[in-house]
Amino acid sequence: MTNRLRKPYIAGNWKMNLDRSKCLALVKVIKGRLRDGNDREVGVFVPSLYLADVSAVAQGSPLGIGSQNMWFEDSGAFTGELAARMLREVGADRVLVGHSERRQLFQEPDSWMSKKLRNSLDHDLLPIYCIGETLDERKANRTDRTIKRQLESGFETLRAEETHRITIAYEPIWAIGTGETATAEQVAAVHKMIRRWLVQRFGEPAANMVRILYGGSVKPDNAKQLMAIDEVDGLLVGGASLQAETFLPIIEFDAR
Ligand code: PGA
Repeated sequence: MTNRLRKPYIAGNWKMNLDRSKCLALVKVIKGRLRDGNDREVGVFVPSLYLADVSAVAQGSPLGIGSQNMWFEDSGAFTGELAARMLREVGADRVLVGHSERRQLFQEPDSWMSKKLRNSLDHDLLPIYCIGETLDERKANRTDRTIKRQLESGFETLRAEETHRITIAYEPIWAIGTGETATAEQVAAVHKMIRRWLVQRFGEPAANMVRILYGGSVKPDNAKQLMAIDEVDGLLVGGASLQAETFLPIIEFDAR
């Protein structure tokens, strides 16, 4: 059994999948299977349009409901965007920041990340900050440099006393949606490097509060092995979070 300092966190990222009725049905099933939430935290990141309905169904359970993105201003001329306070208002209690699809497909620059993290914390929308290298960066031995750059830009304004509200998801971009999972050695090495960076920046007690999740082709058959890696505090699950048959076994991974 791994000696856990931090409560395991299993998060499902539904992306632009599932229509309203499927979202509601899946949340109902997950809610029915969650226990008191004492030994693990579970959250789902749903299409924003359905946040109000989904959070109404989840009410009364420890299931966290999150948005997949947000904008960092409170209001104004930002056509098509959603403010953290708006997401809170419709029941979200968490948010993904800097998912690689946002960074790559929608060209979100590093410079937005610390603003998004700042604003999410200011509105009590607990962020998962997603970071990870491309295949080219890994092949060129630039993984560490990329990850450190993403940490620097994201945590520019973060204070040590706020670290307990932060989760990081390490998602190698080459492992997302590809069926290819990083090896245990690769995952452990990057997670250790992230932890070292946090210790240097915030000191050990504050650094130890941050959960570091792994994401990228997590499936029921590799979830237990991934959770057995000491440095892994949880999982961010895409494809396998879309169906109860594949998401429930991941949520219910055997912690012994
Ligand atoms: P995947 O997605 O599990 O389908 O690889 C993970 C993610 O994008 O968060």
